[in-house]
Amino acid sequence: MRSSQKLFVPSLPTLWPSMLMARKDSSAFQPFCAPNVRYFYFARNAVWLTVKMLGLDKGEVLVPAYHHGVEIEALIDAGATPRFYRVGARWDVDLEDVAKKITPKTKALYLIHYAGFPGPAAEMRKLADHHGLPLIEDCALSLLSSDGAVPLGTTGDVGIFCLYKTLPVPNGGALTINGPRQYSLPEPPSPPLLSTFSHTVSALLQNLELRGGSVGRGLRSLIRGLGHGTVKAAHIERVATGTQHFNREHVDLGMSPLTKRIALSQDLEHIVEARRRNYFFLLGRLRDISPPLFNQLPPGVSPLFYPLVVQNKTEVLERLRARGIDVIDFWKRFHPACDAAEFPEVAQLRRSIVEIPCHQDLSSEVMAEVASAVREVLTSDRGNRKRTG
Ligand SMILES: Cc1ncc(COP(=O)(O)O)c(C=O)c1O
Repeated sequence: MRSSQKLFVPSLPTLWPSMLMARKDSSAFQPFCAPNVRYFYFARNAVWLTVKMLGLDKGEVLVPAYHHGVEIEALIDAGATPRFYRVGARWDVDLEDVAKKITPKTKALYLIHYAGFPGPAAEMRKLADHHGLPLIEDCALSLLSSDGAVPLGTTGDVGIFCLYKTLPVPNGGALTINGPRQYSLPEPPSPPLLSTFSHTVSALLQNLELRGGSVGRGLRSLIRGLGHGTVKAAHIERVATGTQHFNREHVDLGMSPLTKRIALSQDLEHIVEARRRNYFFLLGRLRDISPPLFNQLPPGVSPLFYPLVVQNKTEVLERLRARGIDVIDFWKRFHPACDAAEFPEVAQLRRSIVEIPCHQDLSSEVMAEVASAVREVLTSDRGNRKRTG
C-alpha cells in the first residue's frame, strides 16, 4: 500500500506510450466490425446526423427521462422534438410508458444503455416494428458491452458510440447503420492536428502520473504548465471532449486518424475482463455499506464505472476527490425540456449516483485502495450525520 503518497485514480483510462505503436485485432467488437460505420469527433455528432438521415426533424422522438442532456441538445438542434418516457430507480425503462406515449407524431424511439448495462433493446425493437418506427440505440456509455451474446448497438436501426469514454483515445464517436438501407453520408474532415496532439499528450501525462507516483506527478504538473502556455501562445484550438453542451460549430468534425490507430492497438477482450474484475471487486467490498444498484454483472456487460449510491452526494464527491479519486457526478441535471417533477425516480437517481472508476488501467492494488477510501468516506459520513441528526 502506497500510504505516504496520495492516490491518483483518473476517471478515464490513460494512454500508454506502447499503444502508439502496437497493432492488434479489435475487429470482433462494435463499432469496429460493423459493415456500415461512420466515425466522428463526438457521439453527439452522430445523434445530430441520425435526425437528418432518418428525417426525424419534423417530429417527436421518444427519449428517456434519464439522459445526459447533450444527446437531447443534439436532437433538438437537428430539428427533432424530444418527448420523455419514464425510467425506474434501477435504470429500468418503463416499456408501458413508452408504448403509451407513441402517437402519430412519434417518428422514432431512442434507447440509452446506461454505463454498459443493457436496456431492453429487443422489446423496444418489437415496439418500434409494431408502429413502423426506427429505433436509435445510444451506446455512448456502453462501448464493448453486450447483452449476453448480442452486442449493444446491433438491434437498433442505428447504433451510436463514444470511443473516448472507454478507450484512451483523443476523440471519437461512431454511427453504425444496421440492416440493408444505405445512406450516403459525408466523410467528415479530420479535426485540427494540434487539438488531437494536445489531448494525446494529456492522456500520456496521466499515464506517467499513474505509473510514476510522486515523480510522475511532479513531471506531469511541470509539463502541463508548459503545455498550457504553449497552447495559449500558439492559439491552438483545443476542441474539448466530454463537455456538457452541443456546439453546432463542431458538428462536422470527424475523428482523428490517431484515434483509429490507438483503438486498433487495444486488447479489447482484456479491457472487458479488467473492467468486470474491478467492478466485481467493488461490488464485494461495498455492498454492505451501500445497497448496490445491481446485485450482479450480467454476462457480456463491460461496465463503464461502478454506480455508487450515496445520500450526501456533494460531500462524498468532495471527499473522494480530496483523496485523489477522480469521481464524477453522474447526470446531475435534467435537460430543461424535461419536467423533473414528472419523473421522481430519475430525480432521485440524479441526486444519488456517483461514478467510481473501475477501468482497465486500475490494478487490483489500486482498486483495494479505492474501496477502502470509499468505505472510509461513507462510514464517516454516516457517523457525522448520526451525530448531527
Ligand atoms: C447517453 C449519451 N449519449 C450521447 C453522449 C454524447 O457523447 P459525446 O461526448 O461523445 O458527444 C453522451 C455523453 O456523455 C451520453 O451520455
